[in-house]
Amino acid sequence: MTRYFYLTLLGGLATCGGSLHAKDNAPTFNKDVAPILFAHCTSCHRPDEVGPFPLQTYEDARKRGRQIARLTQRKIMPPWKPTAGPEVFKHARVLTEKQLALIRDWVEAGMPEGEAKDLPPLPKFPSGWHLGKPDLIVQVAKPYKIPAEGPDIYVHFVLPLDFQQEKYVKAVQVLPSNRRVAHHGVPILDGSGTARRLAKKHGGDHYPNFGGPGFIPRGFLPGYAPGQMTRIDETDPRGITLGKGIDIVLQMHYHPTGKEEYDQPQIGLYFTDKKPERNIAIIGMANNDVDIPPGARGHKRSDTFKVPVDFEVRDVWAHMHMIGKEAKAWAELPTGKKIDLLHIPDWDFNWQDTYTFQKPFVLPKGTVIHAEWTWDNTEDNPRNPFHPPRRIIWGEGSTDEMTGLIIGGQTVRASEEWLHWLSVLGHYLDAERKANEAKRKRQ
Ligand code: HEC
Repeated sequence: MTRYFYLTLLGGLATCGGSLHAKDNAPTFNKDVAPILFAHCTSCHRPDEVGPFPLQTYEDARKRGRQIARLTQRKIMPPWKPTAGPEVFKHARVLTEKQLALIRDWVEAGMPEGEAKDLPPLPKFPSGWHLGKPDLIVQVAKPYKIPAEGPDIYVHFVLPLDFQQEKYVKAVQVLPSNRRVAHHGVPILDGSGTARRLAKKHGGDHYPNFGGPGFIPRGFLPGYAPGQMTRIDETDPRGITLGKGIDIVLQMHYHPTGKEEYDQPQIGLYFTDKKPERNIAIIGMANNDVDIPPGARGHKRSDTFKVPVDFEVRDVWAHMHMIGKEAKAWAELPTGKKIDLLHIPDWDFNWQDTYTFQKPFVLPKGTVIHAEWTWDNTEDNPRNPFHPPRRIIWGEGSTDEMTGLIIGGQTVRASEEWLHWLSVLGHYLDAERKANEAKRKRQ
């Protein structure tokens, strides 16, 4: 076998006319690797973005070539957590086997730069508003300080709108002023005035996390995630109506960088005169009876929800904290058929994207949605914040634990929006009741 290998290698070298030519066939940065990095890495790995160093030039890539090869092979970079890839979700950050092989072969060949003429231009990333100047910009009142060290921070900024009449929103962009610390931003709608009161109680325009926003959301707007573009999907009939008395509450998730940082995010709203055909609807699931003993591996909680009216699914989002291990959701149709909605086998608190399905699909009335969350509270979990492990219960801090699953979409029939909402609200209140009961029992 070995001899055969050497013979063919020698034969190959002889017919190619020496090793120089063999090296010519190796992938080069300019021709093969740069296009991959520019398309899949540079959106986050450039100055003032969330990536810890730029990946824009040959030098940038050569310095970290081995690490890049290792992390891409192990699918750690680009960050993408669901088991399903681009066949199921839009904008999936996944490299093909061919791209992975090119990176690996390039590193093994000694990372040749290649010819200048082969280098594609560096892509232009819009640094400000992706769709041009918004019709309305609302901004957090003061720069918010994120300390150099410590746990991740969730903060709720209240942005009162004070609209005197209904406005119809066709696109939204959340724009942090400092993208090095901003991991995610979710604008939540409050029609109850509760968020204003909470902020006032905390002496300003923002308040901390209470394991959630502290009120029952009227809805959500598209949020901020690193490297994501604001787009208008012309095939989506849904829109957002912002009525009188609605405030936007921007929930920001910050990840300390080792240096004191400030952020003062803005939200840009693009309006349309046309009343949207349909409203965004959600299904929210949780099981907050969470009490995880130290050393527990595979500790689970689950929730089920029976779909009250035909529902069209468009996206899915899951939530846990640091020692989360696995998040899973699937639907069981009345026919008994199962549909996977989301499976994240190696949960990472730092990457909580909303995953948009390539094609919306209908879950008929009577479908049962299952959500399941699993934790690993052992010493073996590298993300465990406690050594030795401690008992962890449900709570607001990132070192406490939580569960969450939100499915976004719309009811198939406009007339059933209210029925759907009542059922979702009932489920939410029921989850709260169960969590409180569990808490009482613990005390
Ligand atoms: C969506 C944003 C994003 C994209 C896209 C992305 N990265 Fe990263 N990358 C990060 C962040 C943030 C970190 C810091 C570690 C973390 O928070 O997970 C990181 C860390 C790294 C590291 C260092 C890891 C360490 O342990 O120090 C390497 C190497 C890397 N990325 C390479 C790549 C390559 C190669 C690509 C493209 C194939 C890529 N990244 C795409 C955001 C991104």
